[in-house]
Amino acid sequence: MNAFTQYTVEPVVRKNLNFKLEEIPRFWFGGDPFKTRMFDALSLTFPDGERYFIESVRLFRDKIKDPKLQLRVADFIRQEAQHGMAHDKMNQVMKDQGMPVDQFIQTLNKMFKFELTKRSPAYNIAMTAAAEHLTALMADTFYSHKETLQDAHPYVRALLAWHAIEEMEHRDVAFDVMKQVGEVPELTRKFALAFTTVLMLGFTTYRANIMLKHDGFDRLSRLKMTVKGLPWFVGSNGMLTKMRKPYAEWFKQDFHPSQHPIIAQYDVWLKTLAETNDPIQAGEAFWQAGK
Ligand SMILES: [Fe+2]
Ligand SMILES: [Fe+2]
Repeated sequence: MNAFTQYTVEPVVRKNLNFKLEEIPRFWFGGDPFKTRMFDALSLTFPDGERYFIESVRLFRDKIKDPKLQLRVADFIRQEAQHGMAHDKMNQVMKDQGMPVDQFIQTLNKMFKFELTKRSPAYNIAMTAAAEHLTALMADTFYSHKETLQDAHPYVRALLAWHAIEEMEHRDVAFDVMKQVGEVPELTRKFALAFTTVLMLGFTTYRANIMLKHDGFDRLSRLKMTVKGLPWFVGSNGMLTKMRKPYAEWFKQDFHPSQHPIIAQYDVWLKTLAETNDPIQAGEAFWQAGK
């Protein structure tokens, strides 16, 4: 065990939360097509991405002897399955808007199938643990500062808030599987984060561009939107750039996800959900409580 302070929260599997996604406007991020489609492009990879994470972890289920880790793996699987279902609903909204979601998903599935059947279990669990590092950091960066999602529609903001909460709850499960039974070479572990990041950013921008084309924007408008909008994500003061320090800590040999504090207003979400039983109000309170 390392000498760092460890921050952990217990995973809770929450089912059938309703975010009323069928009511959101087409450009739900403050009427901004580029920001909307970037988040949509990221969101649409979640259902199959998360099923891929589940399969990667399952490859090691028989090797896990620690009963505590077995339970955490079970919760991880159940949480990710719920996320997949909720984001499937978001995919339906995009499909109803005429977005080529099915085509994107077919390509994604081919890629995941290839990874699972042609590459080693060690490679797959490293990619999964790395992607989980990214999602936990995104969860933090989306909600630490209120201004980041200020213009987002409250229903989508609430969906992402719930997802953020649970990503923080299980952020170290795939990592612990990788460390305890994955037999992952250090170089593979490090490569996995760099590679996952490139894939996620590249595919998100690419898919957002295709969606904007389906929205009716011509090539020049799309180029202008990308040049103007991309710095908001990855510019010197961009939303994702802000997570570079915790991101880079992955590359330290003694890194563990629990070294990072849990987002300050985590309890606000839990408390509001317990009081109202409404995930939209919980998401709103959670977002409001950001700095
Ligand atoms: Fe998830
Ligand atoms: Fe996750």
